Amino acid sequence: MSSETEIVKEGLVKIEVPRVERLRGPGRKSHVPFFNPLMRTNRDVSVFVALTTLSDGDTVLDGLAATGASGLRTALETEDELAVTLNDKNPTCHDLIARNIERNQATNCSVTCEDLNSLLSDGRFDLVDVDPFGTPIRFVEGAVRATTDGGIAAITATDTAVLCGSRMKACIRRYGSRPRRTEYCHELGLRILVGYIARAAARFDKGIEPLLCFSTDHYFRAIVRVRKGARKADRTLERLGHLHMKGLERGLLPETGAAGPLWADAFLDAAFLESVKLPSYFPHKVSKLLELWREEASSPPLFYTTGEVARGFVSEPPALDRIIGALRDEGFVATRTHFRPDAFKTNADVESIGRILRT
Ligand SMILES: C[S@@+](CC[C@H](N)C(=O)[O-])C[C@H]1O[C@@H](n2cnc3c(N)ncnc32)[C@H](O)[C@@H]1O
Repeated sequence: MSSETEIVKEGLVKIEVPRVERLRGPGRKSHVPFFNPLMRTNRDVSVFVALTTLSDGDTVLDGLAATGASGLRTALETEDELAVTLNDKNPTCHDLIARNIERNQATNCSVTCEDLNSLLSDGRFDLVDVDPFGTPIRFVEGAVRATTDGGIAAITATDTAVLCGSRMKACIRRYGSRPRRTEYCHELGLRILVGYIARAAARFDKGIEPLLCFSTDHYFRAIVRVRKGARKADRTLERLGHLHMKGLERGLLPETGAAGPLWADAFLDAAFLESVKLPSYFPHKVSKLLELWREEASSPPLFYTTGEVARGFVSEPPALDRIIGALRDEGFVATRTHFRPDAFKTNADVESIGRILRT
């Protein structure tokens, strides 16, 4: 270990990472292997997805591995004997990953130092993890092509401002989709990312089934099962749509609208989420998120913030629990959402929401 690195423990692995102070230095970040402790949730999720979906002999590619933290954790925290490839084109990362594999005696891990797209053009994997700086678009086609039939593609995007509509033209250029800056723009942005993955898969006669797509901290993450076949691709494309809005009313419909094309169907798989068993050492943040995702999986698309319904109907924003309880009492579906702590999802129409708020 050099004086510019330190050992940190995350999950069940001990990894050598650059000292955090170094990341703050201007102009040096690109040469220093990247490790962001704040992205731990992302890695925790990768581990429980592998735990829940993979079995002995399955292959995993951590395509942009940096220090190897995520792939190493997947290799060592799942009970099954997986074959995990950790790849990074930066030679400094490659050497660091090799040391981290040795440090953890991870005999089921190997390290490569290739451009991810060339690795994806030759290889086939049961789980492909793509966790880039910024937009993932240059890796999406390769990732869905390299994922086996029934395998999983897990794709992160940190260009959330673009997907949320702060830079409309960049979103149209990158994702071929019109964003919309609204109170619920994080859900629209996530749906644009999933819609992009769906269209990329369809180009190769593949369909997708979202397992867990979410927004947290400063990134979006789409974890989808990939299915081979032209009919699977056609059915996937039928699940795309556009945003339609009028006043407070909002919905996702097939016809061209105010934003899209975007994923217009469920992005949380209730059965998958129910089957997840978190290891006892996982942080509380992950169990709280899992609880919210499970609740949200039964909800209709899009949400309302308490602030916007207050502006529309009453003077004070209602307490979240009160509005959700009142909607349920009237027989509507109503849940919290992981996108915002001050928002709710419901199948009630705007008129009913207004009536319930005034009583
Ligand atoms: C955001 S970091 C990955 C962080 C890591 N997944 C984690 O959880 O700590 C992105 C990494 O991708 C690598 N990279 C960027 N472009 C690449 C490419 N075309 N092929 C392979 N690696 C690439 C960079 O060297 C960098 O280490």
